[in-house]
Amino acid sequence: METIFQALEEGLIVLNREAQISYANRAAEQMLGFKFKSAQGIPIQRYLKDIHWDLVLDLDEYEWSKLVRREIEITYPQHRFMEFYVVPLAAIDEKEEGAVVIFRDVTRERESTAESIETERLYALSLLAAGVAHEIGNPLNSINIHLQLLDREIGALKDETAREELKELVDISRKEVGRLDTIIRQFLKALRPSIPERKPMKLARLVKETLEVMRHEISDRRMLVETDFPENIPVVAVDETQVKQVFFNVIKNALQAMADGGVLKIHTLKSDRFIGAVFEDNGLGIDPEKLGAIYEPFHTTKAEGSGLGMMIVQRIMRDHGGEIEIHSEPGRGTKLTLRFPREDARINLLEAPAQEKVNGGEEYD
Ligand SMILES: Nc1ncnc2c1ncn2[C@@H]1O[C@H](COP(=O)(O)OP(=O)(O)O)[C@@H](O)[C@H]1O
Ligand SMILES: [Mg+2]
Repeated sequence: METIFQALEEGLIVLNREAQISYANRAAEQMLGFKFKSAQGIPIQRYLKDIHWDLVLDLDEYEWSKLVRREIEITYPQHRFMEFYVVPLAAIDEKEEGAVVIFRDVTRERESTAESIETERLYALSLLAAGVAHEIGNPLNSINIHLQLLDREIGALKDETAREELKELVDISRKEVGRLDTIIRQFLKALRPSIPERKPMKLARLVKETLEVMRHEISDRRMLVETDFPENIPVVAVDETQVKQVFFNVIKNALQAMADGGVLKIHTLKSDRFIGAVFEDNGLGIDPEKLGAIYEPFHTTKAEGSGLGMMIVQRIMRDHGGEIEIHSEPGRGTKLTLRFPREDARINLLEAPAQEKVNGGEEYD
């Protein structure tokens, strides 16, 4: 019998009438992080804290049958979800006292449920987005046509300085309309599994061009953008539009976090395996509790936020096989590092080790 108990994948603990441990199998030891030898006679409460064991053992047979299953979360020795049920021994033999607790690890099931919920949510979202994109398409078209007309009118103006200035404004507007159009298409792409069309690019150029598009937004606020793009950063194979989208979303968030003014520092870096871009703002920062939620669709702390920006960032980075790293301190700012895998990583290992100390002091192995 002992051998069979030890072979079970389920944790099994026998309690006496005082709810102390009188037997535990190996799976129980592993899941709860104790040794039976030293745990014998110790109240189960110590290991499974969330349960009122005294109440449990006081239940009559009818109530027992209600307490079939429960799920609990434990943090020691590992973070897990456990499903357990308790069977009073008296239910089997009146003369017996105490109970048997049987539990199993449902962490993986929990995670896959969470994943399928995410997928479902994304599906609903993509349907919605398709609808919205369609609705936006028509006014966007019309804006584009009117901007073209405006452009023509401006071309006929006599005052040359006015002409130049107005032309620039129209140019920016048209670029923005173009970008909106790309965003919508990109957005739909980001929701569907998409394979990036990768070409070797300098990340520095993509950052610069993104900043260029955002020029007015930046100068409108008391915002300073400092960039540092070392010459020796190699190209990396990325999808230009997608990565610009990523940069745009990230920079936008940084600017919004510094609404009262601040400095956004951007630099590129390399390691043996990655080429990266780092965005460091001294804005609001992110509450550590909310850090995990920032990729969730619709999670926003802004009155006019969509809560989609970081989800798209995550999607695109995932499609590129890249990584996102965030350090943030509320009230002090946020440092976001995006790393794109280098294709020449393997070849690189054969080369002389690169000098790795990149500005900002970031070091890699
Ligand atoms: N640089 C940052 N500084 C502070 N908070 C940020 C930053 N980047 C993202 N966040 C937080 O993450 C949330 C989600 O961002 P995002 O998905 O882009 O949606 P949105 O910008 O529409 O709110 C933001 O509402 C904000 O709370
Ligand atoms: Mg955003």
